[in-house]
Amino acid sequence: MNNDTVTIIDNNTGKQLVCPIKRGTHGHPVIDCQDLPKTLGMFTFDPAFMTTASCESAITYIDGDEGILLYRGYPIEELAVKSSYLEVCYLLLYGELPTCQQMDDFTLAVKKYTLVHEGLLHFYRGFRHDAHPMAMLVGVIGAMSGYYPDALDIKNPEHRNRSALRLMAKMSTVAANCHRYLIGRPFAHPRNDLGYVENFMNMMFSIPSEPYQLNETANRALELILILHADHEQNASTSTVRLAGSSQAHPFSCIAAGIATLWGPAHGGANEAVIRMLQDIEDPKNVYNYIKRFKDKDSSVRLMGFGHRVYKNYDPRAKIIRESCHQLLHELNAEHLPLFEIALELERIALEDEYFIERKLYPNVDFYSGIILSALGIPLNMFTAIFALSRTVGWVSQWSEMMEEPNLRIARPRQLYIGAAQRKFVPMEKR
Ligand code: ACO
Repeated sequence: MNNDTVTIIDNNTGKQLVCPIKRGTHGHPVIDCQDLPKTLGMFTFDPAFMTTASCESAITYIDGDEGILLYRGYPIEELAVKSSYLEVCYLLLYGELPTCQQMDDFTLAVKKYTLVHEGLLHFYRGFRHDAHPMAMLVGVIGAMSGYYPDALDIKNPEHRNRSALRLMAKMSTVAANCHRYLIGRPFAHPRNDLGYVENFMNMMFSIPSEPYQLNETANRALELILILHADHEQNASTSTVRLAGSSQAHPFSCIAAGIATLWGPAHGGANEAVIRMLQDIEDPKNVYNYIKRFKDKDSSVRLMGFGHRVYKNYDPRAKIIRESCHQLLHELNAEHLPLFEIALELERIALEDEYFIERKLYPNVDFYSGIILSALGIPLNMFTAIFALSRTVGWVSQWSEMMEEPNLRIARPRQLYIGAAQRKFVPMEKR
């Protein structure tokens, strides 16, 4: 008997299918049941893809039970302290850490694309004064599909690379200008004499009439946030990018689809929702009572920043960012920031509560990232846009990997139909 197979038997017909078991470098093996419809005339039923591996990927590995996150094999803990965001981008995109020369060339290549077409500024002006930056980001990045006809051939690796670099470079200009539009500041141009993070901070906060003083502590904290959010294998937004990409859509449209998915509070929108929740709690002494609503079976509200589909022990990014959060607030002399005190109390009470213990609900990365972004003076409505900025490299890396597949096919899930049985049309006068 072949041990590397699983046999599925239909007890009604006695027909059986021997499915190969596929094993990756790390992690759970998967059952390859692609022949199921052909052999047994059935599909698998897996709402929310709780047990489905939708692709092969060599980019990111997560072990949710052990709290492990690897980018191209390198532990997130090491990258967080030894690497820079752009170096992580290179690693995710090309698979290896760069040499000095490769890093210099890559940095220059990204900088070359930071400017955005002036025509795009008209798209910003079409938004209401109180639009959410994520709505603007979806719109402006989607609109960019119409601006770069020199890289339209998605089967051409050189075109794909150009689109990937453009997206990473322009996302920071586009995101910062969403903020500027909403507060009535003139649009900012990128400064290529600055590093990636410094340039973003400069575009966010500088004003034309005065020099802007960059803050080293703030830049370091933001760089860490970008590294920690850069990729996270087949999460909802990345799967959306892959699904859109499988139809051979333009990469800018695929990334716009990813941004739209990220916006939801169950995903990237959680960092903003955490702060709104902490503001609503108002005082650490209110935490004990406030937390009761999250345990109520009849209520659908959730403790934002807690829980994860994959991490059921702890989120390794949360561990790193928690430490950084303490350090940053200490350096900025802001340890007594009321939001932080409420967050610490919430974390303490939830981690001792049976409800959260039983369900293995721990703080995720978004529980702390919002506090750091608040301390850096980033407005609340920009939190998820910054997540999108950081995740762009993950999306384009996953998209590029998929486009390299020799047998790329359009992604098309099936369904279990539970609607009306086939019936005859009844003319309106007889209904
Ligand atoms: N607060 C209270 N209860 C929760 C929470 C929470 N944050 N998360 C899960 N639960 C409960 C569920 O009600 C369920 O309870 P039950 O077994 O009594 O029905 C149980 O824990 C399992 O929950 P699921 O919904 O099956 O967990 P799932 O893996 O589908 O959801 C998710 C993961 C969406 C992240 C969820 O934990 C959540 O909504 N968290 C809050 C939002 C959040 O922080 N999102 C950011 C995720 S990280 C990221 O995107 C970067």
